[in-house]
Amino acid sequence: MRHVSRRAMLAGAALTAGLCRPAIAQGAPLKVGMMLPFSGTYAALGENIAAGFELLIAENDGKLGGRAVTLIRLDDESDPAKAPANVNRLTERDNVDVLLGTVHSGVVMALVQAAREKEIPLFIPNAGNVAATRDLCSPHVFRSSFSNWQPAYGMGRALAARGVKKAAWVTWDYAAGKESGEGFRDGLRDGGAEMTHLLTVPFPETNFQPVLAQISGLGVEAVGSFFAGGGAIQFVKDYAASGLRATIPLCGSGFLTEGVLKPQGAAAEGIQTALHYGDGLDNAKNVAFRTAFKAKTTRDADVYAVQGYDAGQMLAAGLTATKGDAAAAMAFAAAIRAARIDSPRGAFTLSASHNPIQTIWLREARDGQNKVIGIAAKDLADPGTGCKMAGA
Ligand code: BEZ
Repeated sequence: MRHVSRRAMLAGAALTAGLCRPAIAQGAPLKVGMMLPFSGTYAALGENIAAGFELLIAENDGKLGGRAVTLIRLDDESDPAKAPANVNRLTERDNVDVLLGTVHSGVVMALVQAAREKEIPLFIPNAGNVAATRDLCSPHVFRSSFSNWQPAYGMGRALAARGVKKAAWVTWDYAAGKESGEGFRDGLRDGGAEMTHLLTVPFPETNFQPVLAQISGLGVEAVGSFFAGGGAIQFVKDYAASGLRATIPLCGSGFLTEGVLKPQGAAAEGIQTALHYGDGLDNAKNVAFRTAFKAKTTRDADVYAVQGYDAGQMLAAGLTATKGDAAAAMAFAAAIRAARIDSPRGAFTLSASHNPIQTIWLREARDGQNKVIGIAAKDLADPGTGCKMAGA
């Protein structure tokens, strides 16, 4: 039997009963379900993603691709156990047209599943879970951020290029930590070096003493790391306090120091990280974006704000091509795939599996900024392994 989507059935039933005309003909606003962490260790990340997305809408007089937008906010608490029920609320109770979410790689899987099964477009403005743009890729799923593999791969390459031969990866024990460890391992390997150890701490725990106690005995020349938000603040402080930095430098995916340099203070000074964004990127779009973001929020922009803004730009590209109809799946996806997104990070396009192809910058924390000091990997695409989608 031909698969009929829930939305097609709802529309069919309503039309049969003579209850409605197509929403777009009535000029109904597009409902975007914004599922992000607004509490817990990733709360600041969720707030900046939301603010970046809202900034783009405000710059376009409340519209995207010519269609008015209504936002429904839902706090997912970065809790994978609550994710299926949260997604269901948005799709079944609130009947959203588009999903935007989320930060945590475990939570995003419920959104990916809903997008695939219910054929609702999903824009991922952070979570790097590689499956979303590898085995579970879909015409309905688009990422404006990164795969967990990308920034860490860049860091591994940069370390190897500096002559480091052996390094360890320290991280939270969940998909983002482990997959970024794989990127780090691959980057080191491609540069002729080796990742010898993977040390983990349960998410979102911040008792790092047991792993810190092991590091000096590992025989490594550097430690790479994935932590973000509140956990990154604590890890960087604890690493500095342990005295390890004098002999075994700390580096990582850029989330380690992104948006958290103020609370990290002197403990972060000199830490090198790799990310698809950095402070001082000198392009006109970035300068304008940072000014507008600061004026709107009184906060400095960071990668999370950029990813929210760019999710809005991608959605706008799809809506412009379909005259506001996000359910016109083929034309909507084709337009986003063909778009060149004029991002504050530098313009990017999507790979065939819908993940940004982007430069990974090498940065160093200096005087409260993640200053770009070089390129870790130019125009880097995630391998997209296992993606079976027409054109991928
Ligand atoms: C993740 O879970 O994918 C993630 C969370 C915070 C920063 C980067 C990645």
